[in-house]
Amino acid sequence: MRYAHIIGWGKSLPEKVLTNDEIAQMVDTNDDWIFARTGIRERRIAGDDESTATLALAAARAALETTDLNPADLDLIIVASCSPEHIFPATACLVEDALGARNAGAFDLSAACSGWIYGVSLAAQSIATREIDHAMVIGAETLSRFVNWEDRTTCILFGDGAGAVILGPSEQPGGVLSTVLGADGSGAHTLALPAGGSRMPASHETIDNGLHKIRMDGRKVFRFATRVMRQATIEAVEKAGLTMDEIALVIPHQANMRIIESAARGLKLPEDRVFVNLDRYGNTSSASIPIALCEAFDAGLVQPGDRLVTVGFGAGLTWGAAVIQWVAEPVPERRWRNRVRAVLYLLARIRSGLRRFWRRVETWLFRPPAPGA
Ligand code: UT7
Repeated sequence: MRYAHIIGWGKSLPEKVLTNDEIAQMVDTNDDWIFARTGIRERRIAGDDESTATLALAAARAALETTDLNPADLDLIIVASCSPEHIFPATACLVEDALGARNAGAFDLSAACSGWIYGVSLAAQSIATREIDHAMVIGAETLSRFVNWEDRTTCILFGDGAGAVILGPSEQPGGVLSTVLGADGSGAHTLALPAGGSRMPASHETIDNGLHKIRMDGRKVFRFATRVMRQATIEAVEKAGLTMDEIALVIPHQANMRIIESAARGLKLPEDRVFVNLDRYGNTSSASIPIALCEAFDAGLVQPGDRLVTVGFGAGLTWGAAVIQWVAEPVPERRWRNRVRAVLYLLARIRSGLRRFWRRVETWLFRPPAPGA
């Protein structure tokens, strides 16, 4: 039997920090309210030269550095995002090009904050069935670009960032042991970015009415979240043939401390078995779980053999959970390997430039025959 293991991980966060006090200068709120109701102290905001693709690419490169793989070894790149670079082309294709992952298929996945778990589920099954060998699953967001900075009920919550994992095959039992995915579109309106799609293309009216910004009924999402976080965790653990006692750490979607605490209470989990970094980054949507996973690994909170649950919920409404057994040890850093990768990234840029140039020459040389010619 073939198992899909996490063999690489990396994250990328913008340098710019936006504190609660700074938000309090923009809208009628304060640090005490925000921290008491959400657990958030500060979040990261993408700079002018950053975007979902640049953060995704930086996280992807960081993930590759923890492995002995080269970009050409990747067979699949999935970018989960609800703030992608464009409606199309997919952000994943931009990452593929910049990495020089010339053997990879690439697509974006839209399942909001649950997106990274959806991506892991698809990638793990593709590896287990021998369809592919190596997949990169990235969660990347710049939700600050879609936040209404005059709406105090939403602008306090979101932050930017990206996290990536690389999944690879192994005959050794472990890796992604089970996944549970769910959706309930009857709640689609509770958390949405109404305009900009085919239903409501951009117009003066949509802009004037603020329909290109996040709209949320926080209380409804809150109630839904507390219910599904617990349920999805239990289902995924049962599906893996385990009990909660065998789970070393739960890595929940970092949306609200009260949601996390409520789920932990329902699962009878002590504080030290639930990972939280929400205070520093806010809700980074699809990036929140992979960023948290990276920090848990890097802090040594996960030991080889440990079983983890990652669990999330989000717009859609969607939810998902994955039980993952940690087996891989990071490859010790070797300077020469990073130098090789730096050369490969340079070659990828040259290759991309040459392909663009050739595409222009090709269109000029080989015009399609005129109709009826
Ligand atoms: O990835 C999924 C993303 N979404 C979520 O996870 C959202 C889940 N929901 C939540 O996290 C919470 O519902 C919020 C943090 C958004 C709001 O907390 P709440 O405890 O549900 O507050 P509320 O909406 O019931 O509002 C309570 C009061 C209201 O005033 P009144 O009507 O009682 O006078 C709000 O106007 O707090 C007021 N309020 C604020 N006050 C100061 C709302 N936002 C703020 C604010 N600062 N930023």
